[in-house]
Amino acid sequence: MKVFIVGFGNIGTNLVRIITEKNNELQQKYGDSFQIIAIADSKGVYKGFKDNEEILEAKLNGRTEKFRIKDIDIAKSIADLEYDILVEVTSSTPSGEPGITYVKRAMEKKKHVVTANKSILVQNFDIIDYARKMGVIFKFEATVCGSIPVFNTIDNYYSKAKIKKVSGAFNATSSYIIRMMENGFSFRDALDIAIKEGLAERNYEDDLLGIDSARKALILHNYIFKKRMKMNEIENLAKIEDVKPGMGLISEIEDSKITIKYVEKSEKSKIFDFNGAGMSFTITTDLFNTQTLIVDQDGPWESAAAVYSDLVDILKVRILE
Ligand SMILES: NC(=O)c1ccc[n+]([C@@H]2O[C@H](COP(=O)([O-])OP(=O)(O)OC[C@H]3O[C@@H](n4cnc5c(N)ncnc54)[C@H](OP(=O)(O)O)[C@@H]3O)[C@@H](O)[C@H]2O)c1
Repeated sequence: MKVFIVGFGNIGTNLVRIITEKNNELQQKYGDSFQIIAIADSKGVYKGFKDNEEILEAKLNGRTEKFRIKDIDIAKSIADLEYDILVEVTSSTPSGEPGITYVKRAMEKKKHVVTANKSILVQNFDIIDYARKMGVIFKFEATVCGSIPVFNTIDNYYSKAKIKKVSGAFNATSSYIIRMMENGFSFRDALDIAIKEGLAERNYEDDLLGIDSARKALILHNYIFKKRMKMNEIENLAKIEDVKPGMGLISEIEDSKITIKYVEKSEKSKIFDFNGAGMSFTITTDLFNTQTLIVDQDGPWESAAAVYSDLVDILKVRILE
């Protein structure tokens, strides 16, 4: 299947690596694989590279210019190029733009879409209905808790139950920084390492002040309870002074109620039972006992793997058609 990747940062570059690594296996398993036909970043759209390594190498060395298509903007290329799936992995923004426009443009052209960009769903949750209306598949597993299969489990296993409550540690950066501080690093050094490793958002205050967690909680809440709660209705009690050893950032979601706050990790030992840049997702339903999914390490590679998983799910559906 032909893939157009818009956004060539931490997630985009890792996704290109994963596709390159897994394509043979995919071909053997399903008789199809992914061909990256174009990639875009903030400077333009790149095409005509001989293979994935060539464009990756060009990106890493700042030499993408030779592949740039002249006189075409990204939105137009999304409408005009020949591909099957758009992967939208540009930076999250307060307005959700240009991600929303990119995704809608692709859907209008009957392309399937995969995104990791939370801000699209935070600002325009109805885009899920828009995809249905356009008859395309829209997947966004990586938007919440990286590689923990949150939507996959909700859609499959938990679809038989009534979900009462969801909680968890949704922000790997704050978990990582606190763990580093517990290991003797200063706040500043721990933050610098998190930024260098591509863990922290460009605006790291989003991570530490609970805004990133609030975005994820909002998406989950609206998805589970089929509501349209807004960011300003969330009770966000996260404070920078609470970023210290022994603390953890927790999100708690019930119907029409979302709370984000730092708590003593010992109070919620199951939720924080991971090392380093971990995350967790705990779900309480009327049918099963409370269950927790947990991951020790979640960064750009793992989130790119979640994007890849969405891509493979679409490929599998297409094969069955
Ligand atoms: N990093 C993670 O672990 C993680 C996990 C889950 C979800 N996410 C989400 O996934 C998305 C990508 O994250 P990331 O870590 O890869 O971000 P990133 O490293 O900042 O990369 C963002 C990419 O988007 C490009 N871009 C920015 N504005 C653009 C525009 N107007 N048009 C086209 N491209 C544009 C940037 O171009 P340049 O290269 O030219 O700057 C860059 O290639 C974000 O929405 C983030 O919230 C990230």
